[in-house]
Amino acid sequence: MATINDNYSKLKAGYLFPEIARRVNAFAEANPNAQIIKLGIGDVTEPLPEACRTAIIQAVEEMGNRDTFKGYGPEQGYGWLREKIATSDFQGRGCDIDASEIFISDGSKCDTGNILDIFGKNNKIAVTDPVYPVYVDTNVMAGHTGAANDKGEFEGLVYLPIRAENNFTAEIPTEKVDLIYLCFPNNPTGATATKEYLKKWVDYAKANGSIIFFDAAYEAFITDPSLPHSIYEIEGARDCAIEFRSFSKNAGFTGTRCALTVVPKTLTAKASDGSDVELWKLWNRRQSTKFNGVSYIVQRGAEAVYSEAGQAQVKGLVSFYLENAKIIREQLTAAGFTVYGGINAPYIWLKTPENLSSWDFFDKLLQNCNVVGTPGSGFGAAGEGYFRISAFNSRENVEEAMKRIAAL
Ligand code: MLT
Repeated sequence: MATINDNYSKLKAGYLFPEIARRVNAFAEANPNAQIIKLGIGDVTEPLPEACRTAIIQAVEEMGNRDTFKGYGPEQGYGWLREKIATSDFQGRGCDIDASEIFISDGSKCDTGNILDIFGKNNKIAVTDPVYPVYVDTNVMAGHTGAANDKGEFEGLVYLPIRAENNFTAEIPTEKVDLIYLCFPNNPTGATATKEYLKKWVDYAKANGSIIFFDAAYEAFITDPSLPHSIYEIEGARDCAIEFRSFSKNAGFTGTRCALTVVPKTLTAKASDGSDVELWKLWNRRQSTKFNGVSYIVQRGAEAVYSEAGQAQVKGLVSFYLENAKIIREQLTAAGFTVYGGINAPYIWLKTPENLSSWDFFDKLLQNCNVVGTPGSGFGAAGEGYFRISAFNSRENVEEAMKRIAAL
């Protein structure tokens, strides 16, 4: 008789965003005339930059010609894309990252989950609370945790609470942990990390032989020039950090799919015999066995992000969503809400009014304003009493949503 991976039974029934979609669909069915505005999942709404579309169309034409047709590409991604990323995103900011250390993939969500394949079962794992739920759920699936308690906290994980009092940045743990997930600009709180703060983590990781998983999917939204975009801007990070980046939110690739993961060749972890093993080699082995690369067409689209026109268009997209974030921040503040984030990030994190629970506020907004957001408790126990509003939508929808909430 076939058996299942019992770890799946420890998970909540549905992943957060499909669960929200289920509730919204049920509401829409019962209220067919409601004009629902979705500011829940961070999914982009504006069209792909023209430079990317042109490159994609040209790549499709190449695929239609025997002389320029491409079959399997390199599992790690085409060198011409990795070179541009290394030069523009890393070396241009003083990071010592080589193109050979970059792996092109179809998403940061997948990579932050898949990376666990190359790590042992007995690592002590730290996540912030609240946190992007993928980090937790993939550890549960991999059997790295026990069961969840009433608050939804999984036995065996180390939760680092992030609260308004610490600017939504976690304290450096006093105990020793092996793997740490950090996300800046932060999803869900929109908080940012200074170089001084990240340096503390790098020092901690180096002192304890820990590895930091640094999710920089929202780095393009940083407006403050003093803030680091990459953990490799911090000295020593090459020896303790893996970084995840994405074209989803800056270039609108959520449906097109392209991302990247950086595994420095100097990064090692211990084998059970105590020897040091290069993580680059393991990740390369994992990817070349389980992944056949991102399509040529999409990689050409991603490459166009680095053209002069592409850079200007991506900047325009990011500014558009940041202007939405500003409108949300300002209007919610004027309506009496306490809000955080939304300056260097596309997410606004707000305190629910009248001590409503996150899901009660979700229901209230949906029923009274026909506006969808994301309950803070969906990101972890410490997110209870908070709510996330995403700036990814049209200007018209954002303005209309804010008008409705102000009238609540
Ligand atoms: C979110 O809303 O948190 C994001 O859409 C998550 C993601 O990019 O997977």
